Amino acid sequence: MSTQIIRPARNLQGSLAIPGDKSISHRYAMLAGLAEGTTRLSNFSTGADPHSSLACMEALGATVVEKGVGVAATIEVTGVAGAFRQPGAALDCGNSGSTMRMLAGLIAPHPHTFTLIGDHSLTLRPMERISKPLSEMGAKLDLVDGHAPITIHGGPLRAIDFTTPIPSAQVKTAVLFAGLQADGTTSLSEAIRTRDHSEHALKAFGARLTRSGDKLSIAGGQKLKAIDATVPGDISSAAFFLCAALLFPDSNLVLDSLGMNPTRAALLDVITALGGRIKVLNVEEHFGELIGSILVNRGGTTSGAPFTIRGALTAQVIDELPVLAAIAPFTANGLIIRDAQELRVKESDRIALVAKNLRAMGAELTEHPDGLEIPGNQSLHGAQIDSGDDHRIAMAFAIAALRATGDTEIHGAECAAISFPEFFTSLDALAQR
Ligand code: S3P
Repeated sequence: MSTQIIRPARNLQGSLAIPGDKSISHRYAMLAGLAEGTTRLSNFSTGADPHSSLACMEALGATVVEKGVGVAATIEVTGVAGAFRQPGAALDCGNSGSTMRMLAGLIAPHPHTFTLIGDHSLTLRPMERISKPLSEMGAKLDLVDGHAPITIHGGPLRAIDFTTPIPSAQVKTAVLFAGLQADGTTSLSEAIRTRDHSEHALKAFGARLTRSGDKLSIAGGQKLKAIDATVPGDISSAAFFLCAALLFPDSNLVLDSLGMNPTRAALLDVITALGGRIKVLNVEEHFGELIGSILVNRGGTTSGAPFTIRGALTAQVIDELPVLAAIAPFTANGLIIRDAQELRVKESDRIALVAKNLRAMGAELTEHPDGLEIPGNQSLHGAQIDSGDDHRIAMAFAIAALRATGDTEIHGAECAAISFPEFFTSLDALAQR
């Protein structure tokens, strides 16, 4: 287990091209694996999670070739033209909930037996949310007490009319990927709209998908065709630097190649509400996804009520909540987070770990079953941070540490590589000391 020591900083200056989005990389990897032809992907996520999805595609018969290294690499995926093969071993999803849940929907219509396994954290995460709708479609899934390992006895599926009971883009995607290959037209409604990368990715690969009001419909029996695509930068990775810029009055950061899909970009409104000033320098569209550059620094703050994240907004910034909470003590008015019970079943119990680590740094806060209340205007000191092997916790507290007095030690810091292997190097390059 590696420990990173984070020293306080004076401010953040410079520019950074944001590595490819984890969510979009998973979807492009999986759809490329199923499609006919060779897909070429640039700025594919360098994180370990989307590489778990690529490895599963290889095990299912696709060919994956990585040309170049790191952020400069191009990934070529030659798909199976609609027919996955029987894998020779269990499909290892590593730490990735996205891989396990979305892959289950993608492979369930294929006439083989699949076993999906993952690491300790993934084995603790709830999986009935995907087995329920897939079983309704006729799939046969065996879970162990609602968890992985999952065995899927694949075969023909029928379309369903489904309403997602919890806001989950992974569940939506599992149903859409299965619906793409089912008999009939599957429709799906979400009470709270989640990230729509799957909808854009399916269309990019040539599938027809319609939306009428809140209802998405996808006809079964559709074939996919390979694409050449660039993955937009990951706004959830950018969030660490956006939050860091909020900590200092004279920061000045330019973030390039940033994904600004509206179902993810509510983060920018939260940053503004917490005192950030964001200038959008340019935006373009690529396969339905917005990519742009922004300039961020801190504006003036006035005292007032704490900013509250709840309801639909909570779902829209779910992955950014750990870092928003970690910097909340340094904001003028503090932060209230509610309706975030899903945070307790992510890679770790993120509510409990944020509370524990903030308290270790000397912060005052209140923990609720579904969130946190963190007063602003606090001074924190450096501390020993328990990452809980959760990438977003490790990175969130490296950001809080920039404004603490004294050094902070992040234990288990190597887990940042799950989504953002370049994080500590980039932070070092931008933090002025
Ligand atoms: C993701 C959806 C979210 C998010 C996860 C990635 C996706 O999970 O927390 O990091 O790529 O669809 P849920 O769908 O479980 O909310």
